[in-house]
Amino acid sequence: MQDYLQIKEKFNSQINSVQDLNSLELLEQEYFSRKAGEITLLMRGLGDVPEEERKEKGQKINELKVAMVQSIESKRLELKENEYKKIIETESIDITQPNLPKHESGHLHPITLVQNQLEDLFTSMGFAIEDGPELESEYYNFTALNIPETHPARDTQDTFYIKDHAGWVMRTHTSSMQVRAMQSNDLPMRVIMPGRCYRNESTDARHEHTFYQLEGFVVDENISFANLKGILEVVAKNLYGPEAKIRLRPKFYPFVEPGVNGEVSCFLCESKGCRVCKQSGWLEIFGAGMIHPNVLSAGGIDAQKYQGFAFGLGLDRLVMLKYGIEDIRHFQGGDLRFLKQF
Ligand code: DAH
Repeated sequence: MQDYLQIKEKFNSQINSVQDLNSLELLEQEYFSRKAGEITLLMRGLGDVPEEERKEKGQKINELKVAMVQSIESKRLELKENEYKKIIETESIDITQPNLPKHESGHLHPITLVQNQLEDLFTSMGFAIEDGPELESEYYNFTALNIPETHPARDTQDTFYIKDHAGWVMRTHTSSMQVRAMQSNDLPMRVIMPGRCYRNESTDARHEHTFYQLEGFVVDENISFANLKGILEVVAKNLYGPEAKIRLRPKFYPFVEPGVNGEVSCFLCESKGCRVCKQSGWLEIFGAGMIHPNVLSAGGIDAQKYQGFAFGLGLDRLVMLKYGIEDIRHFQGGDLRFLKQF
């Protein structure tokens, strides 16, 4: 009997000094853990007690146990309540805090908008879309395109060469993808290849060192110049409305024969002549032509059997004209006052 009273007293003084849930947990273990809890051991010891005393002893232990469990539970409740109270007191709302700006979600860059529009148009006409490397070999950027070693386009003034890596350049146009795409697609082919290009230009309102083009080509049997013109007319009308017309005038590009310089009728002045079209009524937006047989051969295509046309649209230019943007440098400038307008 003495044991029980002692245990009871010890337990009562302990539980009165418990301040937090962790110590309560430890106290509970001390008496009720399955291996070495004091009460657990007492219960286990009952087996050795002579039979006549066992019943009474058992009852006593049980009463003690029930009382202890009850005080542990009510202590637990009390401690939890205190904890909640503390949280409510310390985590009150600070009404003096300034109103933080809402997180704004971004949107697409105007060049991306127009690129997406053209991608939709070309895929609707059965074209595939391909991506290509911006760091490009001189072979794909120039040689495969029938651009001779001595051509001024290779001049260091226009091309970013890669230091200590002879034969590598930042691509100067998306035409670098033509032969790559010929090598990786099956005939007949219709592919567009949009992407970023680089030229060592001194920048001004019309020139940027980093700009975007959208290249495209078709290779099949019986492809003619009329097909080229038809496709580019569709592009012009898609971008600038049903009244838009295109004009093709001869221009030399080594990778096409014949080659043309493509213009769209100035939709700002309806071809009457204005500041933007420099009074000519026409705006230059692309280069194009019938693919040179040497380029087809570089792409592994039988130039006797197949022909094709290719075109390269200056995306920045298209976007500037579409939205009336007066300076190409806005595109890479990162000025939110510009970007937020789209
Ligand atoms: N690559 C030319 C440039 O950057 C544009 C071009 C002209 C692309 C004629 C073509 C083409 O595909 O046929 O100036």
